[in-house]
Amino acid sequence: MFIITIILIVILSLLPVRDALAGYIMKGRKYISGALYLACILSFFFLLNPQGMRDTWNMAINVLWILLWLPILSKVFQLKLASTLMVFRRPLGVLMGTMALVHSGQYFMNEYVLLPWQQAFWIWDGQIAFTAWGFLGLIIAIILTITSNNISLKFFGGKLWKWIHRSVYVLLIFTLLHVLFLKLPGVQDSLPLMIAVFFPFVLYMIGKILEWKGVKLRKG
Ligand code: HEM
Repeated sequence: MFIITIILIVILSLLPVRDALAGYIMKGRKYISGALYLACILSFFFLLNPQGMRDTWNMAINVLWILLWLPILSKVFQLKLASTLMVFRRPLGVLMGTMALVHSGQYFMNEYVLLPWQQAFWIWDGQIAFTAWGFLGLIIAIILTITSNNISLKFFGGKLWKWIHRSVYVLLIFTLLHVLFLKLPGVQDSLPLMIAVFFPFVLYMIGKILEWKGVKLRKG
């Protein structure tokens, strides 16, 4: 979903219809935001199927990647559509948060799971367990979700609010460690796994550094 979305944004931003499309999106932004917030509420219905964890972690990680790549596509690659879609970062962030919450909820609703008051939830085989990384990520996702509104922005002030929301990078790292430690015990040669998990992160960091340095790879 993430890769397809990025490819779509790139293709549509290069076509002559991009300005008209951006115009339509801006005109309908209230409705699109509303639909995204509705999706946040509807996502809780996934709790009715605790076995369907795959759907929710998939959506949470994909929405997280889209959110993180939008500023790079907009500022570094100067893609018009990415700049337009930036207005939906708040509802998208809330959607990622509700998906992460539902995913964790589905885990706890299953039988025979480890619970936070059990030692194995935190330490497994002498290492920090994947559930611990997930739990730490969940706390950040919840903080980000409940502060993604104007009331919190006013309460904390712009500077502190921005710092709080920069913890999305920590969330990304915790999520990658969650995935890595989930798969690690059964994987004989861990190098390909490390590469599969951290290659997207390295690629993202390169994009982010270019963005911080103000590099523009093409004319807008
Ligand atoms: C208390 C917190 C959490 C628990 C107990 C937990 C538990 C799990 C479990 C049991 C799986 C394996 C599911 C399967 O086999 O399909 C899993 C996978 C996954 N979780 Fe979590 N999770 C938590 C929080 C999070 C959070 C906050 C995120 C971030 C968005 C996240 C992202 C993922 C991803 C991306 C996978 C897929 C790994 C893969 O197979 O590639 N989880 N989690």
